[in-house]
Amino acid sequence: MPVNLKGRSFLTLKDFSTEEIRYLLDLAHDLKAKKRAGIKGDLLAGRNIVLLFEKTSTRTRCAFEVAAYDEGANCTFLSNSQMGKKESLEDTAKVLGRFYDGIEFRGFKQSDVELLAKYSGVPVWNGLTDLYHPTQILADLLTIEEHVHKPLNKVKFVYAGDARNNMGNSLMIGAAKMGMEFVGLAPKALFPDPKLVAEMEEVAKTTGARITFTENIDDVKGADVIYTDVWVSMGEEDQFAERIELLEPYRVNAEMMKKTGNPDCIFLHCLPSFHDLETIVGRQIYDQFGLTEMEVSDEVFRSSASKVFDEAENRMHTIKAVMVATIGRQ
Ligand code: CP
Ligand code: NVA
Repeated sequence: MPVNLKGRSFLTLKDFSTEEIRYLLDLAHDLKAKKRAGIKGDLLAGRNIVLLFEKTSTRTRCAFEVAAYDEGANCTFLSNSQMGKKESLEDTAKVLGRFYDGIEFRGFKQSDVELLAKYSGVPVWNGLTDLYHPTQILADLLTIEEHVHKPLNKVKFVYAGDARNNMGNSLMIGAAKMGMEFVGLAPKALFPDPKLVAEMEEVAKTTGARITFTENIDDVKGADVIYTDVWVSMGEEDQFAERIELLEPYRVNAEMMKKTGNPDCIFLHCLPSFHDLETIVGRQIYDQFGLTEMEVSDEVFRSSASKVFDEAENRMHTIKAVMVATIGRQ
């Protein structure tokens, strides 16, 4: 059966089959080539979308806006709405559903993005919650396909760091769906919810994926991709001391890259990243804890193995694919 995602929300990759994710990746590759060829599109002409942000963003917000404009949609950025303050989420969703063809939401609770989808009656796209960051995973998979010259189901992927955050959860789901070998490298205290792991192990049985968690850095051996994310996610800013203590041994550095034994191993990071002292928060961490870099060394971040800016660009092509697939004209 041909894949048809019209009218669907994009709340977590758990809701999507391997074939549907494959379809979105293929569409993203095509849309990227189309943009490279300088072809202006109209696949979203006449569509209006709203971008609701409770948390800060650079990539996600800009990716939605540029993707919308490239294909002819109009968009509204909303970060100071009445929602949750003077108006319930249900009422806000019902209002936005009357104005817009699609709603992006970045916020805290996964249940909020689900309620928006339930009450708005239009496709809702999850631009990050505490639990999941599914549009990021599509960009990561697209980047792997561009730089690791193997099918996804032959790729060994290591996620080093906070394996129970939105990125750890979502990368495990994406890897399980696409039949990849996924290694979560983290201290036991930061392993993900065992219920989610068990659910993904069930998925893995059907896709051939392998999912393991380890505290041993030697298990990076043979990795095609090493991925990390910030040690402290948005909304957890009171946890720096505890996370640094747990995660310092898992910083991605040249030694870890070397331990893969794979000279072609690439480094990915969803960004933003604390790899130097060029940020206010980075300098505060330095003043408090004496660290000049956090989850990744500046050396690896700036190395030729690092594909983080291709990955950032791919947010736009993949988000465009999600919008075209769910609310597009064809
Ligand atoms: N990776 C990512 O979601 O970046 P932003 O927080 O800048 O949107
Ligand atoms: N885990 C990070 C991802 C940022 C894109 C956060 O939630 O802050």
